[in-house]
Amino acid sequence: MEKGNVEEALKEEETVKSGVNGLDDLFGGGFDPGSVILLSGPPGSGKSVMSAQFIYNGAVKYGEAGLYVNFSESRGDFMRNMARFRMDFNRLEEEGLFRFIDAYNVFNRRSLDLILSHVLDELASLRVRRMVLDSVNSVAAMMDKDELRGFIAATILGICKVNKVTCILISNQLKEVADVKLAELAFMCDTVINLEAKLIGDTVERFLIINKARGKNPIASRAEYIITDRGVEVFAPIVRLPAERGRLDGYVGIGHPEFDEKVLMGGVRRGTVTLISGPGGTGKRFLLVEFAASSVLRGEKTLYATFRDLRRVEESFINRGYDVKELEKRGMRFVEFSPFRVTPGIILLTLKETLDDFQPSMAAVEEVASLKWLPREDYYRLINKMAALFKDYGVTVMMSSESNVDVRETDEFRAADNVISVWSEREGNEAVRKVCVVKMEGRTHYEKVRKLTYEGGVRVAELYEY
Ligand SMILES: Nc1ncnc2c1ncn2[C@@H]1O[C@H](COP(=O)(O)OP(=O)(O)OP(=O)(O)O)[C@@H](O)[C@H]1O
Ligand SMILES: [Mg+2]
Repeated sequence: MEKGNVEEALKEEETVKSGVNGLDDLFGGGFDPGSVILLSGPPGSGKSVMSAQFIYNGAVKYGEAGLYVNFSESRGDFMRNMARFRMDFNRLEEEGLFRFIDAYNVFNRRSLDLILSHVLDELASLRVRRMVLDSVNSVAAMMDKDELRGFIAATILGICKVNKVTCILISNQLKEVADVKLAELAFMCDTVINLEAKLIGDTVERFLIINKARGKNPIASRAEYIITDRGVEVFAPIVRLPAERGRLDGYVGIGHPEFDEKVLMGGVRRGTVTLISGPGGTGKRFLLVEFAASSVLRGEKTLYATFRDLRRVEESFINRGYDVKELEKRGMRFVEFSPFRVTPGIILLTLKETLDDFQPSMAAVEEVASLKWLPREDYYRLINKMAALFKDYGVTVMMSSESNVDVRETDEFRAADNVISVWSEREGNEAVRKVCVVKMEGRTHYEKVRKLTYEGGVRVAELYEY
């Protein structure tokens, strides 16, 4: 083995992948082998699903055998429930990579002892690398405090740590259970993850909180997760990807020379986020359409994401004389996000999935203000995370947002690198559109107000001719 390979191998050995999308990113790669993770949360929060993913993906992706000790579900129920998340544990069992210990009917101390000796046998015989105990409350209910401490110390810490079996202990909401017997558990475990939920609008936002991560420096202590038919997925905050060299050099505009030169002073820097803010009817969509179409025609993969009705957007392209099918053929992708009944995490995960799959260099994001039904703090956090996500992928973004107040007072203002304000003023019998750059990343700019017209392309004119 070459030196590089040895280092690789050591590194590989140093982390145990959780098998849950996004979770490892929070822990800087994964768990330490032999660490004990306390996973707590209310009923239905996804503790079992997450733990099953840990075992299942451990076997399927990393070839590591796993053991699931279940006091809360019978074997049949477990197999059936997990099959709905596309996890076929029967097959793993046949392949010798999985053991299920059915402790569903264990209610007294005698049968508990039998089960526990069974667990020890399995740990000794199978090359078990991962274990789940679902739940530790069930065990605690049958033991007194000292016995429980002894069990945790001997079995979990003793055997698992020594043999480097990484272990998840599931606990049903530690917070509300004022169970002195379990209170100590958090101290004994290396990592403590709490699952929580809160209602925003009429949807539930699920998030996890890392309360403890021994020897790790988690990149965030709170992250949203969602449960879909693929199981639990965590939206990990941003880890900056190394930007492709050259990709972020240069400036881009919306493809109309007058606007690009006068208003954008030659264009916005690649990889930045530009906000177009103004009241309804000021042509924000028009600017996005031109930006997106000119990007595609220049040969760049361009995402057009809208929180509005996608058919209306396509009509705008057609009205501007663009052939939507042709644009799609040349590298445009349209995505419609419903702004309602979604949580920030769902939007961010969908967006991340799109970016991974499509890898655009340009993106138009239409009407983020549609998300303003979210509590202000959630909205603000979402806009910032969206901006950060695009930057991570080196995407140049033009984002519109409807607003009737001074743009400097909006939540979007701070999240954007460049800000263009558009509005309309009555002059005599005429409504005159006006445009002004309010912020331009890394450049001094002159806040000059100009007239904006959409006849014959995007045109700008000086307000006063001297
Ligand atoms: N396809 C799906 N899409 C979204 N959510 C789903 C889907 N299938 C199941 N769920 C949800 O996933 C959760 C399953 O959670 P799980 O059984 O892991 O909870 P738990 O934390 O172990 O709960 P308990 O403490 O009751 O054992 C449930 O809340 C269920 O509503
Ligand atoms: Mg469960």
